[in-house]
Amino acid sequence: MVMARAFAPGKCILFGEHAVVYGHPAVAVAIDSGVEVSIEESDRWTLEGLPFDSARHPHISHILDEVFRYDGPSLRMEVNSGLFSAAGLGSSAALSNAIGAALHSHTKPSEPIDPVGLARMSHLAEARAQQGRASPTDTATSALGGCVVVSGEHIEGTRHVFDATLTTPEGEREWSVNIVDLPSDMEEAWLVIGFTGEASPTGKMVAGVAQRLKDEPQLEKEMDAIARITRAGLTALSAGNLEAVGMAMDACHQKLRLLGVSSPSLEALVEAVGPHALGAKLTGAGGGGCMVALAREPQRVAEAIEIAGGRPLISRFGASGVHLL
Ligand code: MEV
Repeated sequence: MVMARAFAPGKCILFGEHAVVYGHPAVAVAIDSGVEVSIEESDRWTLEGLPFDSARHPHISHILDEVFRYDGPSLRMEVNSGLFSAAGLGSSAALSNAIGAALHSHTKPSEPIDPVGLARMSHLAEARAQQGRASPTDTATSALGGCVVVSGEHIEGTRHVFDATLTTPEGEREWSVNIVDLPSDMEEAWLVIGFTGEASPTGKMVAGVAQRLKDEPQLEKEMDAIARITRAGLTALSAGNLEAVGMAMDACHQKLRLLGVSSPSLEALVEAVGPHALGAKLTGAGGGGCMVALAREPQRVAEAIEIAGGRPLISRFGASGVHLL
């Protein structure tokens, strides 16, 4: 029996999380670890060897029933994730992209996969899971790979790939999804991710920021500051200026802390890597989950994370996007 297999990388946001939900820019890179999915026809529906219960896996059943309108024979589905889950590394976006790619290859084996189509499909699945508030950052980065800039407007020096729209509780949002080619200087740099061991509940964190912005409108200025830092960080990235990228990461972390999305365990890991890294910040929705550091000597930073009680993951910059295996 023919098996369809696909891999989609996780992502790490370098600048602009939360602010991107409101149309400000964000910069994210695909990381080496991700989610692998394989599917093949079977005499019954299973997921990882157990009977498939669609109510327990709304992401997968949404893609099967509403996107693909799959009514073929039962499937045996295997999911292998190298990502800490619910940790801000885009594991649900990677799962959607990898399932979408594997199903596409299973149902239309002669047609190549369409990363933009997969990114759009996965964005809508994310929005459903996040009470209508999701930027296309995680899904587009996992689908396209490399370094992705998502913003309410086109940002100079980036290559436009597609636009995404969404009706959120705060109104219509539109994002431009772009790619940046990183200079070879970035090959000297590594990302060292540190998982706190605590979950990062994206929907809840994003809703919390929406509420805080309503209660304390002066927080808008922290959002504007994140947007400024993101632009400066992007300029530094494009120039391969590692020191400046690190400084912008530190500055971004301070602003995210003021938005109320850091946590004691994130603070402990960010502080622990301080002497060994070029810069560090929480990444993703926060409240737990992961931090990320920029380093020339990743092993030292990984050790600092471990000593402080976190679980390290080392990645290059900008792995390739969703693909069939
Ligand atoms: C989550 O990885 C990033 C957030 O900005 C939410 C989103 O962009 O949808 C917190």
